[in-house]
Amino acid sequence: MTMRKQIAEQAAAFLGEAYFELEKTEEDAKRRIQEVMQEIDRTGTYVHTYEELKHGARMAWRNNNRCIGRLFWQTLEVFDARDTDDELDAANRIFQHMNYATNNGKVRPAITIFPANGSKNRIRIWNHQLVRYAGYGNKEEIVGDSASLALTAACEKLGWKGEGTRYDVLPLVIQKGDQKPKWFTLPEETVLEVPLSHPENERFVQLGLQWYAVPFVSDMELEIGGISYAAAPFNGWYMGTEIGARNLSDTNRYNQLPAVARLFQLDMTTNTSLWKDKALIELNLAVLHSFKKHGVSIVDHHTAAEQFLRFEKQEQEKGRQVTGRWSWLIPPMSPATTGIWHRSYDDIERSPVYRTQPMPY
Ligand code: ARG
Repeated sequence: MTMRKQIAEQAAAFLGEAYFELEKTEEDAKRRIQEVMQEIDRTGTYVHTYEELKHGARMAWRNNNRCIGRLFWQTLEVFDARDTDDELDAANRIFQHMNYATNNGKVRPAITIFPANGSKNRIRIWNHQLVRYAGYGNKEEIVGDSASLALTAACEKLGWKGEGTRYDVLPLVIQKGDQKPKWFTLPEETVLEVPLSHPENERFVQLGLQWYAVPFVSDMELEIGGISYAAAPFNGWYMGTEIGARNLSDTNRYNQLPAVARLFQLDMTTNTSLWKDKALIELNLAVLHSFKKHGVSIVDHHTAAEQFLRFEKQEQEKGRQVTGRWSWLIPPMSPATTGIWHRSYDDIERSPVYRTQPMPY
């Protein structure tokens, strides 16, 4: 099948579905599909209307098999940045998105969509997330986030230098076309962070733990009706376990369970004391407590799982089958206490979709 034919097929399928969901008439859908078919014949591609872009991005959230937060797919704010001309322009759009989404802690889900692949102003964001901590060193001795080792090294090669703390916010790295990427320090006011304290244990602050307020995934490709957008950073709000049961506790990330266990004087000489499990609970309580205390949106895994089951019901009522990847949907703490544990999901990929793409560095 030729490229053109493939785009045409995907476009027609998307437009049919989207226009139906948007309650357009059948004539409107037919007319638009015809117009797009002619555009593809003429130019090899087509341009989404804002309405198509917006609904497509929302459908892609709805179709994301790994996301437990999909109940809120219709609330996604969609910023159209397809007219961005260069790296600086892109950086400014991103800062605006970050300020809108962070909203002093009352987090609002949003996405900014940059020029489509194939257009002359196409860009690529090198960062995995817009806000992430640098990682320095090698396997033996790591300072900061080990998940950022490669990007940190790439930033240093581009001339950036961090302070060397555990929580250095990486710069934003934007590449236009095949040019050398440019980096931008994130303006301080766009990065909200939360220092961690514990609801009962006053000494918890001595651990000096913190995390940033908003997860902005910035390295996934958005595909809508055959058109791909390599730069389409999006955000929701955090689920507590992402930070407390993974980022800060994975042994190959911040590995903080031993420190928490020592603080709470747990018996670390035997597995049967369940010190890791107890430390996990204290750390996760601290995450939820601290975000709440600082007025930053966050959801616990029990509530998120309940919301997901509501999403399933809502989709069923609309006659749509929910797809999902079970191993990602179950929370990393007490998974069998949630309803998701006891269900199974088909992990097939529906379009529009967010996809992982090869790293550019
Ligand atoms: N798990 C990632 C992290 O801990 C964030 C992924 C997106 N999460 C979200 N709640 N939208 O940074």
